[in-house]
Order: sequence, then structure tokens, then C-alpha cells
Amino acid sequence: MLNSLFRGTCAAALISAGQMTAAADWSLDAGSSKLAFGSIKKDTVGEVHSFESLTGTVDSAGTVRVAISLPSVETFIDIRNERMIKHVFKGTELAELTAQVDMAALEELPVGDTTLTDVEGTLSLLGREIGVETEMFVARLSERKVMVSTNDMLFLGVEEAGLTEGVDILQTLAKLSGITRTVPVTARLVFETDGETAQAVPVAEEITQVTAVGDPVKGKKVFRKCSACHSLEEGKNGAGPSLHGIVGTASASVEGFKYSGAFQEADLTWSADALAQFLADPKGVVPKNRMAFRGLKKEGDIANLIAYLVQEG
Ligand code: HEC
Repeated sequence: MLNSLFRGTCAAALISAGQMTAAADWSLDAGSSKLAFGSIKKDTVGEVHSFESLTGTVDSAGTVRVAISLPSVETFIDIRNERMIKHVFKGTELAELTAQVDMAALEELPVGDTTLTDVEGTLSLLGREIGVETEMFVARLSERKVMVSTNDMLFLGVEEAGLTEGVDILQTLAKLSGITRTVPVTARLVFETDGETAQAVPVAEEITQVTAVGDPVKGKKVFRKCSACHSLEEGKNGAGPSLHGIVGTASASVEGFKYSGAFQEADLTWSADALAQFLADPKGVVPKNRMAFRGLKKEGDIANLIAYLVQEG
């Protein structure tokens, strides 16, 4: 349901199976979230109900899934809860709301900012797929927290949702002259991530992480694959530029080295993560560059090498 949301996949985790970075997955903070719906009986008595138990996730591809526990319905009258669970929801455990969101768009939403977005989703309820379309209000609460709420109200038709029979039974049991057949719904969903978003990990911190993971002694051996072309001495360029102090610096900034056009345009910062990606696949990360090296295939080698570059470079 949430469109243009959620900062995305940060760089693929290349080092030590994701110890450094993981694609940011988001999960629902149930305590701060609320899914409420209203009903009007006998034309005059309005009441608000909600579902007490929600769980949800947004994966790195931007698929949002919110599972609604139907037996957790709270109408503040016990017998009514029971009747609703039995006759309207027919003992079904879960309803699921799914939607696709644009992970890249949230990346651009600064902390403290808000935006409105149109969302299309699907509610799976009692074997039916019900399309829902609404405008949502999105607030980036912090780097790791996003709140999404209905901007106005969503209406769910009882008939369309296949709930007519159940609601008829409720109406008869409660001896009511009428219960509204369209249900206003509001939602406030708060999502959190533990994953490291790219913004959340400053280069310095990330480098500390990799030096904790990698072994510089082993990294020194890996560096033999580079030393034909690269030295660690400042100002000493060979076939490749000196790698003195390379970690944390801007790409193509070594003085006196003539870079290819590809590198001059690359505009990277050699964070540990960026280096890891480059060393795994140099031509993939900077296409058409002149470094005649296929790449390091072992993840451990990369972490060890970067630890060595940080220590010695
Ligand atoms: C056969 C020579 C060769 C080997 C081997 C080689 N490189 Fe390179 N490297 C180069 C060249 C040439 C460039 C510049 C490429 C360009 O300008 O397109 C480069 C560029 C780089 C850069 C970018 C530097 C900057 O200033 O932005 C890094 C980082 C790097 N190499 C790391 C390594 C590491 C680490 C290894 C070993 C695992 C390695 N290279 C192996 C030749 C080599």
C-alpha cells in the first residue's frame, strides 16, 4: 500500500555475509500502529473498533505485507467480538494487506519531512482479493522510522468484501434495524528498520566495522595480487595509482596519476562498502575502466584486504 516509500536496498552486502551492511528491511512497530474501522447502527450510533494485533514487513524489493489478526478484533463488547469472529470472519485467522512501494523515493525523504502518496494495494480477506486505493500521508520520523497513515478515510464495502451474510447475522442477533454496509477504515502504520541504511552508516563507522571483521595479516597476502600495479607508498604510482590512504577518499583523486575517462567520471567515495563492491567486480562497478584485474572472488579476502589497506595505507 505505501507508495514511494522506504529507503532502499543499500548496497549489496559483500563482506562477510552481510556483517557490514544489510539491505534495509522494515518491520511494523505494532505498538505504534493502529488499524481502526467504524460502524453505525440504527442510523445514529457510531462506534470505533480496531484490530489489536498487526504484524508487517517491507522487504528490500519494496513489497509491503501487513497481516491482520482477525480474532484480535476489539469492539469493546465481548459478545460482539465473539460474534464478529464467528459470523463475519468465519473463524479465519488472518487477513493480509499487500502493496508495492518505491524504495528509492523514501531515500529522498529527509528526516522530519512528510509527503502524500497515492497507494494501491490488495486486501486478502476470506479468500477474496479486494483492491484498495487511497492517499497516504508519510512522515519520516527518523533515519530508521517511518510513519504512514491514511490521509483521509478509506471505505470498505461490506458487499464487495463478501461480508454481507455475516453482517446480516450480526444484525439479526443484535436485533438491530440496521448496520451500515460501508465501513470507514483508518490506518496508522509505523515501520522500523534495524538494517543499516546507506545514510545511516557514516564512512568512518563503516571502516571501523570492516577493520573489526577483517584480518590485516591475511590481507597483506591478498595485497600481493595488487602490488604489481599498486604501491602503498604516498606519491608512488605504478601501472595503477598509489593506494596510500585510499579508504575513505574520493575516487580518482591521486595526484599525478592519469586515470581513464571511466574513472574520471565515476565519482565514488571509497567507503569500505564501495571498495568491497569494486574489488569483487571492478568492471561491473566502473565499466570500461583500465584496471586489468578480474576481481576478488572470496568475501573473506576482500574484508581482510580492506582491513590491511586501512592499517597500512
Ligand atoms: C594489472 C594492474 C592492476 C592490478 C593487478 C590491480 N589494479 Fe587497481 N588499478 C589499476 C589501474 C590501471 C587503475 C586505474 C584504472 C583507470 O584509470 O581506469 C586502478 C585503480 C584502482 C583503484 C581506484 C583508485 C582511485 O584512485 O580511485 C583501486 C581502489 C584499486 N585499483 C584497487 C586495487 C586492488 C585492491 C587490487 C588488488 C586486489 C588491484 N587494484 C589490482 C591497475 C591494477
